[in-house]
Amino acid sequence: MKIIRAKDYQDMSRKAANIISAQVIMKPDCVLGLATGGTPVGTYAQLVDWYNKGDIDPAKTNLPDGTNLDTAAECARYNGIIHKLGGIDLQLLGIGPNGHIGFNEPGEAFELETHCIDLAPTTIEANKRFFDGNEALVPKQAYTMGIKTIMQARKVLVVANGKAKAQAVKDAVTGPVTPACPGSILQLHPDCILVADEEALSLL
Ligand code: PGA
Repeated sequence: MKIIRAKDYQDMSRKAANIISAQVIMKPDCVLGLATGGTPVGTYAQLVDWYNKGDIDPAKTNLPDGTNLDTAAECARYNGIIHKLGGIDLQLLGIGPNGHIGFNEPGEAFELETHCIDLAPTTIEANKRFFDGNEALVPKQAYTMGIKTIMQARKVLVVANGKAKAQAVKDAVTGPVTPACPGSILQLHPDCILVADEEALSLL
């Protein structure tokens, strides 16, 4: 895994956005896998800043439909789209304080493709900030891309900032490869870049 050290959140966002823009310049019709969560927001803001001429065609964006209660059908639909597009060229990821990537929570085994997951209590807690701090409103389950899909992306870009991510970053980068820390599997990815600030790297 290649590690790029950033001074702070803004620097991390800019460096990550640079890598994504390089990907788009190299392959204008590339397939980008874009993560939810707070960490990539600055990266997206930087990309919008640079672009600022037009919008991404919404018809070319694909999200799992979290309101579809037919889990099997929704997972198959989303997997089908990824396969039809020929896989992902660049997958952007945050990492949870418990080492999750996407919403692949720590567990007994690596889940392969899109699946519905019960969110870990720490993830529900962390996501409260997106729901006015009201835990009752935070979804307890989520659809997530699976580990196999992430690992098949041709390039993986992980962003992390802040002390709260330091242990997860350490475990993912230097710990054993184990589903107990889903991010650790990225050690086996042939083209994975971690862009992290000083605090997130402080335990390495
Ligand atoms: P965060 O979460 O970016 O909101 O901190 C990271 C993640 O859950 O992947």
